[in-house]
Amino acid sequence: MTSPTPKRLFIKTYGCQMNVYDSQRMAEAMAADGYVLTEDQAQADMVLLNTCHIREKAAEKLYSDLGRLKPLKAERPDLKIGVAGCVAQAEGEEITRRMPLVDLVVGPQAYHRLPAMARGEAPAVVTEFPAEDKFDHLPARAATRRTPTAFLTVQEGCDKFCAFCVVPYTRGAEVSRPAPRILTEARDLVARGVREITLLGQNVNGWHGEGADGREWGLGRLIRALAEIDGLDRIRYATSHPNDMADDLIEAHGAEPKLMPYLHLPVQSGSDRVLKAMNRKHTAEQYLRLIDRIRAARPDILLTSDFIAGFPGETDDDHRATLDLIERVGFATAFSFKYSPRPGTPAADRAEVEPSVADARLHELQALLSRQQREAQESMVGREVGVLFEKPGREPGQMVGKSDYLHSVFVDAPQAKVGDLVRVRILASAPNSLQGQLLQ
Ligand code: SAH
Ligand code: SF4
Ligand code: F3S
Repeated sequence: MTSPTPKRLFIKTYGCQMNVYDSQRMAEAMAADGYVLTEDQAQADMVLLNTCHIREKAAEKLYSDLGRLKPLKAERPDLKIGVAGCVAQAEGEEITRRMPLVDLVVGPQAYHRLPAMARGEAPAVVTEFPAEDKFDHLPARAATRRTPTAFLTVQEGCDKFCAFCVVPYTRGAEVSRPAPRILTEARDLVARGVREITLLGQNVNGWHGEGADGREWGLGRLIRALAEIDGLDRIRYATSHPNDMADDLIEAHGAEPKLMPYLHLPVQSGSDRVLKAMNRKHTAEQYLRLIDRIRAARPDILLTSDFIAGFPGETDDDHRATLDLIERVGFATAFSFKYSPRPGTPAADRAEVEPSVADARLHELQALLSRQQREAQESMVGREVGVLFEKPGREPGQMVGKSDYLHSVFVDAPQAKVGDLVRVRILASAPNSLQGQLLQ
């Protein structure tokens, strides 16, 4: 039997790391149906846009990209255009109404049905949260590209309902994948050359499930089980909620050498009034105490966070409280966003902060956070760190990889190859990377 000519699939991914993971899984599901990935949209038989709904700008990007696809679709009417991800979930059929060139719309919990949809054997719009687990219907992990690092979704959805956020609506209720499935997927990845795995979840530290010993496990225990896999050298996880930072997870940071000294722990604001209005369910002081406990377990850990500027009702005092919290913690890097009202969320009807005021606050946050980022990087100079090489650098003989602390490090290493995990002395700090020298 001769195999049919492969069809070409182009995927564009917006939004968070979970979307990056989902795009890989969709590519693998479509590969089982004869599609190969292409980097060239103009050559594609199918274009899939995996979208993000978190802020208005992110969601609007979909429509400008679809507008740009009109000439290609006019030229080749058989080109299939699919919309996946969180905008697909939030807007469903509204997308095909507004943009008739779209053939398929699939939500983040239903993308195991994408191959059938592309064959015309399933409805063109699937956004219900199906009763079955999509992971049970997806092919086992195949390496679409060989990289020493990989994402692995362990938890999805969110029950926290922060007043500004669409995720509980687009991703649905919190669900943890069973530990045995996660361990199998991790072993599959390691067998394909992966040495570092980042566990993903909208509230990844809320992961829980029955372990191999029949007991209830939390993320800390899962990490210890993963650390027993030979050939898996580094473990990371994102994104966490402060209220789900369990004792055994904090302990794992001190006890498990494969768990990297880096933690993304969004706090959003340093004002108790704003935290309450956001429905974050903790105070600034509780966050600071949590940071103290984490640093006691792992003194060299680098911390990062997310902040929102101009949340409805935020005053200058509230804003100063956020700057104060940032000063007190000292973040290695952090993301700050101007508040964007999202349809259907509780905060959407509240009176907004004057846009120019929100802009000014955002700039102030960003200036402080980039100063801290520079300082954190400069503090690495002279230190010895592990670096996992991910690709060749700009200069001949140079490699680039991530340090234990997730900094990009350039190293002269003419004998090295991608996937080598080496010890490096940091020599210098550039704006967005470090330079290091091979030890040994
Ligand atoms: N689950 C994570 C992150 C979710 S979204 C958490 O609990 O923190 C990533 C970040 O986007 C959030 O941390 C928040 O800072 C930002 N964000 C979410 N909704 C937003 C909105 N409506 N406007 C501005 N920023 C928003
Ligand atoms: Fe959104 Fe809050 Fe859930 Fe994070 S915890 S995904 S910010 S609702
Ligand atoms: Fe965006 Fe959905 Fe991720 S809204 S940030 S793609 S969970």
